[in-house]
Amino acid sequence: MAPPPSLLAATSLLLFLFLLLLLSSRLSPALGGDDLLGAARAPGFAAWLRGVRRRIHEHPELGFEEHRTSELVRAELDAIGVTYAWPVAQTGVVATIAGGGGGDGAVVALRADMDALPLQVPFRTLLNHKNAFGRVTLLNLAEPEELVDWEHKSKESGKMHACGHDAHTTMLLGAAKLLHSRKDDLKGTVKLVFQPAEEGYGGAFHVLREGVLDDVSAIFGLHVDPSLPVGSVSSKPGPFLAGSGRFLVTVTGKGGHAAGPQDAVDPIVAASSTIVNLQLLVAREIDPLQSAVVSVTFMKGGHAHNVIPESVSFGGTFRSLTTEGFLYLKKRIKEIVEAHAMVHRCTATVDFMEDKLKPYPATVNDEGMYNHAREVAETMLGQGNVNRGVPIMGAEDFAFYAQRFAGAFFFIGVHNKTMEAMHPLHSPHFVIDEDVLPVGAALHAGVAIEYLNKNAATAN
Ligand SMILES: *[C@@H]1O[C@H](CO)[C@@H](O)[C@H](O)[C@H]1NC(C)=O
Ligand SMILES: [Zn+2]
Ligand SMILES: [Zn+2]
Repeated sequence: MAPPPSLLAATSLLLFLFLLLLLSSRLSPALGGDDLLGAARAPGFAAWLRGVRRRIHEHPELGFEEHRTSELVRAELDAIGVTYAWPVAQTGVVATIAGGGGGDGAVVALRADMDALPLQVPFRTLLNHKNAFGRVTLLNLAEPEELVDWEHKSKESGKMHACGHDAHTTMLLGAAKLLHSRKDDLKGTVKLVFQPAEEGYGGAFHVLREGVLDDVSAIFGLHVDPSLPVGSVSSKPGPFLAGSGRFLVTVTGKGGHAAGPQDAVDPIVAASSTIVNLQLLVAREIDPLQSAVVSVTFMKGGHAHNVIPESVSFGGTFRSLTTEGFLYLKKRIKEIVEAHAMVHRCTATVDFMEDKLKPYPATVNDEGMYNHAREVAETMLGQGNVNRGVPIMGAEDFAFYAQRFAGAFFFIGVHNKTMEAMHPLHSPHFVIDEDVLPVGAALHAGVAIEYLNKNAATAN
């Protein structure tokens, strides 16, 4: 039996409306009706983002030397009409976008890092590098170059944005533009942190010391990830990245002729034995279900085949996903080094180099802030593009913010096989799919807007 025509018409109208709704939400999922991703992907906006990223990419600057990048950030903020504090920790810029409520509501921070990397071409890369004739080319080791052949490659010898901080800075400028044009509807204040010196120097620690973020209650950060497809993100609540420190050991004995070892005290044997015993630390003293790393990455000392040197040095990194684990490794590294030197009649000093290069705490995502950012990402990118990450032993100075405020750190995909955007972070072959730029800009803005909405709602 056929249904009456009017019912059929009503049903098909409903079906049509439902499909329309489904289709529109698939094309541009919106937060509270605001299509941030659509706005950021608009041709003019996306082209501006690409242009900014390429300008930063061409002139990479190392930690605390980001003068030109900082100037570019300030010029773009001026053009958008956003005010900022500068200098913060030498080259940093902290922009403020306050909502229509005029100082009412919460303060949420978004963070990007601006520094690039010094390039050290590993031996393997040298061997694998082939020129146009398919032969191995020996590169100049003293002045390694970006090995990506494209129009906007690094113009600064020995430096490269090989960790994607050029993209991070650009995405945050994109967020500034999106947020500024929605300023009147903001239910609080957004602070945009363009920080210096993430790579080793702990720029975040220095930004925090200047007090510009004292009124902040939550913070969100993004890092590009060449293993994730563009358009997707990944993170987890709790410990996500390792706490990381360095050690530099000097073992001193007594130099002498190699033919008369009885008259010398050999620091090479002492150092070798120490290094082997350092490896027992993780194997025998750490809970197998806890994560820890001790890696010795260099040894220096000695010059001749027939001379026992006076001293040798070696060093490396140690990491843990917990503060207790980190402090335990640090204590034991010192004990093992000093005791083994004594066994071999040498003396040893351990320098943790903390005055120059800050050790980074573990990056621990706040459960509430993680869930908040995950929900925003799911609405914007679709559930299938929001992945549950696993902890990794890399380190980030975002950890300093996450110790102080409720923080969430997410990886954002830049992988695209067609473009060969799959080389690891810090590789001189590192490439990103620039389609990430609007995604990151919209995600930053969405996380901030929704955080302020939620906190305004609970305050009332
Ligand atoms: C990867 O890059 C190619 C070339 O630029 C582009 O056509 C393609 O859409 C990109 N793939 C994805 C998944 O975005
Ligand atoms: Zn890096
Ligand atoms: Zn990085």
